[in-house]
Amino acid sequence: MTTASAPGKIILVGEHAVVYGRPAIAVPISKVKATATVEEAARGTGCVIIAKDLNRTIRVSEAEPDDPLAAIVRSTLTHFHAQELDATITVISTIPIASGMGSGAAVSTAIVRALAGHLGHTLNNDILSALVFEVEKLYHGTPSGVDNTVIAHARPMFFVKNRLVETFTVKSPLYILIADTGVLSPTKTTVGDVRQAWETNQEKYDTWFRQIGQIALMARAAIIGGEHFALGALMDGNQWLLEQMGVSSPEIDRLVQAARQAGALGAKLSGAGRGGNVIALTADQTRGAIANTLREAGARNVIAATIA
Ligand code: MEV
Repeated sequence: MTTASAPGKIILVGEHAVVYGRPAIAVPISKVKATATVEEAARGTGCVIIAKDLNRTIRVSEAEPDDPLAAIVRSTLTHFHAQELDATITVISTIPIASGMGSGAAVSTAIVRALAGHLGHTLNNDILSALVFEVEKLYHGTPSGVDNTVIAHARPMFFVKNRLVETFTVKSPLYILIADTGVLSPTKTTVGDVRQAWETNQEKYDTWFRQIGQIALMARAAIIGGEHFALGALMDGNQWLLEQMGVSSPEIDRLVQAARQAGALGAKLSGAGRGGNVIALTADQTRGAIANTLREAGARNVIAATIA
């Protein structure tokens, strides 16, 4: 039996603009994770995936080509030149689905790692990320690759599409609250809507994307320098631009306002938007009170994470 896990993620700044080549900053969230277990099955059984949280049992040989769970198994087997094996792959995850925390990429990553282990191979993180990226396209259409990169490397990332991965040091811990609006965030649809809006108004959107890219550059400097007030203000600026782009929502706005009024240094949506999670940067001492305020303002769930 081989087991492997992968963390969730949040985007601190830069979502959407990152699809258009601008930088984004993403960090792994190890408090939530996807876990895959591979167990040998009786000869001739074939490969079966049991995804408990999705209530799905998938026989790989019979699944559609665009089934993301079967696709990641197939591409991993192809990568290792392995025949279809007789095995049961069980997947469980504590990462909320369609909430901007990278659940799809984490599930794929855990499956690749567990299968590689089962087959007696190790895999470097760049190849792992590339395998997962192909399946991310089935989930998300035209993803930037930020989710698979930060989840495979499990380190804070300064990410630019099609560039070598770049990590950085966090000078003093970032206290983050991740508050769930309870509304699903359909990444594929929202990324598609932004593309359509960009096509009809390229100049305006390109300006917003450029400004978001500048925010990501300044945010990296603020994190490296331990300047949390500056980082909070940059997150607020990023949220304002995301609102102009039409990817916020009343539920997001309510949680963002509540966090700010309760003393958060900054707050914004994280991921594709229209739902999903709001993140708030807090001080260590104010984190508990702000978490309570977020719950009172309607957050379904609040996760406290420390990025060190
Ligand atoms: C999704 O986590 C982030 C987006 O920027 C899409 C992407 O980068 O692929 C909205």
